[in-house]
Amino acid sequence: MNEFYQKDIISVKDLEKPQFEKIFAATDRIIQMDPNERRELGRGKTLGYLFFEPSTRTTLSFQAAMALIGGTSIGISDVSLSSTKKGESLADTLRMMSIYSDILALRHSLDGSSRFAAEISSKPVINAGSGTEEHPTQAIQDLYTIKKEKSKIDGLKIGIIGDLKYGRTVYSLLYALANYDVDIRLVSPESLKIRSDSIYEIQKKLSLKESTNLEEYIDELDVIYVTRIQKERFPDEEEYQKVRGSYKIGLDVIQKMKENAIIMHPLPRIDEISTDVDNTPQAKYFKQAEYGKFTRAALLGLILNENGF
Ligand code: CP
Repeated sequence: MNEFYQKDIISVKDLEKPQFEKIFAATDRIIQMDPNERRELGRGKTLGYLFFEPSTRTTLSFQAAMALIGGTSIGISDVSLSSTKKGESLADTLRMMSIYSDILALRHSLDGSSRFAAEISSKPVINAGSGTEEHPTQAIQDLYTIKKEKSKIDGLKIGIIGDLKYGRTVYSLLYALANYDVDIRLVSPESLKIRSDSIYEIQKKLSLKESTNLEEYIDELDVIYVTRIQKERFPDEEEYQKVRGSYKIGLDVIQKMKENAIIMHPLPRIDEISTDVDNTPQAKYFKQAEYGKFTRAALLGLILNENGF
């Protein structure tokens, strides 16, 4: 039996290198597969998505992924139009969705929400972003992007820049990278440094250096992973104003980078990467978003098919 069959995907910490490599190999197969064969993977199956926070890429890529494997999607992306508005609990909403679908994707502002959903739901649950905690399918697509665009993950020097305190993609990415032999450079304003309690364990596995100054590392990085300052998670608007616009990647920064370095971003971006950069060979963030459709299709295909594909 394929080890992902009917499994919840709640935290990257539940996966190790062999599992990542299996998902990457399945993603390669999804991309190369005959479309008719691919559509058999999800035939007759329904994805139920529940998004209690805004999303463009994750909702759309999950729906596109389900369509790619021949399944359908139903969901709620504006909870104000659901019975949540009338006071229905998260638990009952999850119970309903697990009656109507074969697999669930949940985004919620609370840490622990997906773990809770997995306890309630009779169908497998994929964490599509839980509070400031994790976004595991983003990490899978991030690693896949690095592997495809740099031809390897081991041996790279990876800089993660921006809001390292509230950005959940940062935590999932670091937990995932802890399975590889990489050098990490963290660059953030002092007030948005990584939450050391959250990465206490992986600090022992990863070589990490921190700075507030991107200039310190820019010319040695193979991958520059830029993140948005998460305005919505600041308890105080004044604190956000102090750090907004801290880092801006423009053509001037590209001049200082290694020639074959790549720039990634989970998106959405606000102003941390100038639009001039979009057409440079270093810009891989839209490709990264595209890979997200294929990695999610692979994951859905593995979870829904007992014998894999
Ligand atoms: N990267 C990401 O999660 O984007 P969305 O918030 O648009 O889904």
